[in-house]
Amino acid sequence: ADTLRAAAAQAGLFFGVAASPGRLNATVAREFGQLTPENDMKPETIAGPNGTVQNTGNADTLVNYAQNNSMLVRGHTMVWYSQAGQLNGANQATLNTFIGNALRRWGNRVAYWDVVNEALADNNAGTRRGQWPHTLDRDANGDGDYFDATDTDYIRDSFRAAKQAVAAAGLSTKLCINDYDVEGLTVRGGARNNKAQALYDIVRTYTQGSEKLIDCVGFQSHFNDNPNSIITDDLQANIQRFADLGVEVHLSELDIDDDLSNNDIGQGQAENYRKVVRACLNVARCTGITVWGIADSESWRSSERGLLFTGGNGNYQKKAAYTAVLEEL
Ligand code: XIL
Repeated sequence: ADTLRAAAAQAGLFFGVAASPGRLNATVAREFGQLTPENDMKPETIAGPNGTVQNTGNADTLVNYAQNNSMLVRGHTMVWYSQAGQLNGANQATLNTFIGNALRRWGNRVAYWDVVNEALADNNAGTRRGQWPHTLDRDANGDGDYFDATDTDYIRDSFRAAKQAVAAAGLSTKLCINDYDVEGLTVRGGARNNKAQALYDIVRTYTQGSEKLIDCVGFQSHFNDNPNSIITDDLQANIQRFADLGVEVHLSELDIDDDLSNNDIGQGQAENYRKVVRACLNVARCTGITVWGIADSESWRSSERGLLFTGGNGNYQKKAAYTAVLEEL
């Protein structure tokens, strides 16, 4: 195969990209088999008053483009402390209303939805206590977690609402939890990655009991020089243990800083892309990889030059990293 999307399809996974309507051009449909709206499905854009969905023009443009080009859509994202717009500070009932409305708005045209994004705090500090939406939670028995039957947990309740909406509407949309710095089993220096462990505990709790609330896990995979964001040799092992819970794993927002000066194993960007793609390929339930933009100049972190193309405005040149990914797939 001579495109990323075709090579990935042959290997049994999707290879996608995050984009906005202004970035839809021939390269997108040729190279990518999946589309994530980079901003246009965030509550900041589409949440109206009282859990309504509004202002869907850009999202519709992206979904229609995906449909016309046989690309999957990963909806991104519903419940998130950032870019929450009119949803910011909402109670659980309003969140649930919004979740149902967003799911029904696009139905099966959205194959996967990030229901909960970035629930965990930086620096292995557990959940984002004191910060909405975590402020909705109640620890009924004071044991310090939110996972008991009597406790209130917005993650559980949001996924419950989503599952109910999916079932009631007869949809096949899969429901994901997404976070960053959860990729490796360990972090720089070899210590255990407690943030990955916290995510694992959440996914285990809500998939191994009587309720199967979570279908997929997104490892954002913004790899850079931060101690918790590096590429570790145990990336595959971490993907595998989530997969062993029966959920699909996606590398959902991949970019790799081209200067990983402190990376424990980094040999340069193309080799790092190889390692990451290989780790996903080696796990059957790692079903998709999405790069967070097309060209370096268009990236949310353009100074890291972390993507697969240079150039811009639809005129792109393939980087060594592109060739490495294509070969690896
Ligand atoms: C970023 C977008 O790329 C930017 O354009 C926007 O200004 C901020 O959000 N984690 C996420 C994504 O889940 O939604 C973020 O996207 C990048 C980090």
